[in-house]
Amino acid sequence: MIVKKRAKMLVANWKMYLSAKEAETVAEAMAEMFKKEKPAAEVIVCPSFPQLALVGKIFAKTAVQIGVQDIHPEDKGPFTGDVSVKQVAETAKYAIIGHSERRQYHGENDVLVAAKTAHALKSGIHPIVCVGETEEEKDAGQSEAVVTMQAQKVLDTVTSMSIPRMTFAYEPIWAISAGPGKEARQPDPVEVSQIAMLIRKLAARRAGDAYAEKMRVLYGGSINGQTARMFISEPGVDGALVGGASTKPAEFLKVVKETDACL
Ligand code: PGA
Repeated sequence: MIVKKRAKMLVANWKMYLSAKEAETVAEAMAEMFKKEKPAAEVIVCPSFPQLALVGKIFAKTAVQIGVQDIHPEDKGPFTGDVSVKQVAETAKYAIIGHSERRQYHGENDVLVAAKTAHALKSGIHPIVCVGETEEEKDAGQSEAVVTMQAQKVLDTVTSMSIPRMTFAYEPIWAISAGPGKEARQPDPVEVSQIAMLIRKLAARRAGDAYAEKMRVLYGGSINGQTARMFISEPGVDGALVGGASTKPAEFLKVVKETDACL
C-alpha cells in the first residue's frame, strides 16, 4: 500500500491563560510572524470561547485554523454554561475533546468524550481527542492499558469512515506543565512513539489500515522550542498539542520551526 505522508500538525491550546487584550496581542504577533514565515505544518489555535471571534478575525487571512477547547455533545438545549458546535461553527473547524483537565476538573468520562467526538464528526468539526495516563498509572506500568481503554471507547463510537478526520493527542498527565514556565517530568520519546503507534493500531483494527494511516496522532506535555523535535521526529508522532509555550509567540515560532524540520 502506498501511503501519502501525513502533514504535521500543531495545536495551540491557550487554556484559560490569556485576557482578551493578551489574546489579541498574542494572535496579532503570531499572524504577523506566519505571514513572514509560512509554517509547513498545519497550525490550529484554540483560544477561550469568549475570544473566539476576535482571534478568528485576526487569523482570517492566514493559514492558521481555529479550534475550541471543548464542545457539548448536543446542538442546543438547557445546558447552562455549555457551548455547541453550531454556536462556533462559523469560526472553529477543530475541537479539543476530553483534555485531561476536563476529565479531572469536570468529571468527563470516556462515554461523554466518545459522545462529544461522534457529535463533532457528524457536525463537520475535526475532533482532537486527548488520552493519557496519570503518574500512578504510569508507575504501575498501566500506560498502554489506560490509553487503550480511552481510545477504544472513542473508536467504537465513531464511524470508520470518519477516522481520517480525527486526531488523537497522547498527553501523559504527569508530563503536562502546571503553568507557563513550570515544566513537568518528561517522557521517553521512544515510549511516546510506541503509544502513538498503539493508538494507530487500534484505529486500524477498527477501520482498516487505509483509514487509520490518514488519522493524526500528536504528543502533548511541556512542549517548547527545545523539546519539540525529539518527540515530533519519532515514528508515528504527527505533531504536538502545545499549552503554555503556545501563548508566547517567539517560543511557539521555535516549535513551528522544529516541527517543520521534521517533515
Ligand atoms: P503544556 O500543556 O504544553 O503546557 O504542558 C499541554 C496540554 O495540556 O495540552
